[in-house]
Amino acid sequence: MPASSTSEHSVRPASTPAFSFRCIACGHASNAAGQDFRCAHCGDLIEITYPQWGESDKKLALQPDRLKLIWKQRRLSPAPADLSGVWRFRELLPALASEENIITLREGNTPLYELPRCSRITGVPHLLAKHQGMNPTGSFKDTGMTVAASFARQAEFRWVACASTGNTSASMAAYAARGGLRGLVLVPDGKISWSKLSQALDYGAVTCQLRTDFDGCLRLLQELVRRAPVYQLNSINPFRLEGQKTLAIELMEQLDWQPPDHIIVPGGNLGNSSAIGKALLEMFKLGLISRLPKLSVIQAEGANALVRTLREAAGQRLISVQAETRATAIRIGNPASWKKAAHVLAETGGACEDVSEAEIAQAKAEIGAEGIGCEPASAVTLAGLKKLVRQGFVKPQDSVVLILTGNVLKDPDFTMDFHRGEMFRDAAPNPQLESLRRPPIVLDASLDAILRTLERFEKSTP
Ligand code: F0G
Repeated sequence: MPASSTSEHSVRPASTPAFSFRCIACGHASNAAGQDFRCAHCGDLIEITYPQWGESDKKLALQPDRLKLIWKQRRLSPAPADLSGVWRFRELLPALASEENIITLREGNTPLYELPRCSRITGVPHLLAKHQGMNPTGSFKDTGMTVAASFARQAEFRWVACASTGNTSASMAAYAARGGLRGLVLVPDGKISWSKLSQALDYGAVTCQLRTDFDGCLRLLQELVRRAPVYQLNSINPFRLEGQKTLAIELMEQLDWQPPDHIIVPGGNLGNSSAIGKALLEMFKLGLISRLPKLSVIQAEGANALVRTLREAAGQRLISVQAETRATAIRIGNPASWKKAAHVLAETGGACEDVSEAEIAQAKAEIGAEGIGCEPASAVTLAGLKKLVRQGFVKPQDSVVLILTGNVLKDPDFTMDFHRGEMFRDAAPNPQLESLRRPPIVLDASLDAILRTLERFEKSTP
């Protein structure tokens, strides 16, 4: 445990001058970060920068063709850092003092799928999904957690903590356990999926269900880290975002470094969109890609703080909302990284939209019917794409990648309620939703009953 809970040096390896911290608002640069990861001058969020990237010897080491070759060759290596789909790209990450500190579950390395059915539905033939739900704990959080948890271990923290709508806590609990750290989880009481909560318990974290929402949990965590020697692993922690950048690097590698026209990502606390955007801008600057994809963020209508911030305040001040959506992963009204997200949206020319609960449920069932599946928060991407096509922002000939952030097994209650018809009971009948429902059928244990069911389905479905 570090001697002082607020020591600026506690989260910064003394021997690694290869990265530094910069405030996103006032630009104040520093070689160390406090435990709240906020600017010592103005209190805004900080980000990690790599001042050495501009120096001539570093420029040589960061030559695009050289990097692409190294990253490819590492796929044949059995070393733990190379087996990780995050640390494989370590030239673009903050360096640890020693690779011994890496806590890895072989995160990243996630598949890129074609979506032929969704292509037909949206009228966009070049449609792919990068499935971050195929990470070790079932969500994209693992790619950031491996980096931030490793830095927590290097700084010899005993406790790590996060506020969460479920996935961050599942991921943090796993990486803490693997790294011999103690995990403290703060989640809203209710409104989080049992599946995610059960992961935190299984991985042995101290799990507190607070009688508040996610925003209330995060506020308390921010106060806690100022009072106790606890290392926070929310996406306010810029090491998390550095790890999450690798989603975009790996995606470009899978596409043979030919960027798509659009990348569409769900928005909650807005760390992931910020990380993907940062990666795109850095790859563009380093010459790894020759043009920037447009990065668009989709939110649930009931948790649309960024949509309103951009529409009603031109991105100048945050408009918070009282969040409500069944896509509980993104049930967030006061997103911490809104400024970072607004910046990368502006830089890449992306859009920001919101979608209804029915649109989310329909999109989730459509992705499920591809044999892929995802959790509700991930399905906002497909629902958002439909809207962006209708608006003419995405053209039929454009290539599009949806980022599916969580595994279908993350929220089985949502899936069951949808298919059993327990969702939208009081709403007007919706034939599109009805056609997607596949409720379980209870039958007598007879061959006849099964054959009749087969016949019925053969006749009723094309
Ligand atoms: N999709 C899933 C499945 C998520 O779990 C989250 C966030 C998001 C999208 C939104 O990403 O916050 O970076 O904009 N989940 C956090 C959590 C808040 O605590 O698990 P974001």
